[in-house]
Amino acid sequence: MTRVAIFCSGSGSNAEALMQYFHNHSQISIVLVVVNRPDALAQERASRFGIPSLYLSRQMFSNQPEEVLAALLQRDIRFILLAGFLQKIHPFLIDAFPEGILNIHPSLLPDFGGKGMYGTHVHEAVLASGKTETGLTIHKVDSEYDHGKIIFQARCRVEKDDSPSDIATRVLAMEHSFYPVVAEQVILAHQSNTPLISS
Ligand code: GRF
Repeated sequence: MTRVAIFCSGSGSNAEALMQYFHNHSQISIVLVVVNRPDALAQERASRFGIPSLYLSRQMFSNQPEEVLAALLQRDIRFILLAGFLQKIHPFLIDAFPEGILNIHPSLLPDFGGKGMYGTHVHEAVLASGKTETGLTIHKVDSEYDHGKIIFQARCRVEKDDSPSDIATRVLAMEHSFYPVVAEQVILAHQSNTPLISS
């Protein structure tokens, strides 16, 4: 059984889709939801699935990554799924989970990614660019925002009269269907070959 943590900063609708999909999964178990905002709604969603959540401050993520790692190791976490986690992952954690952190982003990376590109800013930028297509990207996490190896992308059209919120709704629905399935494949492939390196 691979024990997985979800990292989340806000609403957590993707976190919920993941918890739903992996509920009673035979090989993958979501055992923890980590939030870096005390008011993150994801905590309530987790409690509905009987999954514990843990608040760790932004300051701790930036300056005491060894404490974040300790909390994860204590719970034997082997894989991390970012789901709307609005903070860069410290290189210390990336080294501790080689190839073991996945993120989802609501655009076709490398377009419309990077610092400040989150939430509605992404979809506003897509509209301003005049692109007729957008989508989602699921990628491995490295120490730059929205930058690691791309694992999967799905596309949808941008219609002429779309608002940013129309695009957000369309992309989010796709995220909910694709992220769990792609995460499952990546975690199962990862299970057999990468031991957790801790320092
Ligand atoms: C999603 O659009 C995801 O791609 C991005 O942050 C958003 C999180 O939304 N990384 P939610 O909290 O899962 O509803």
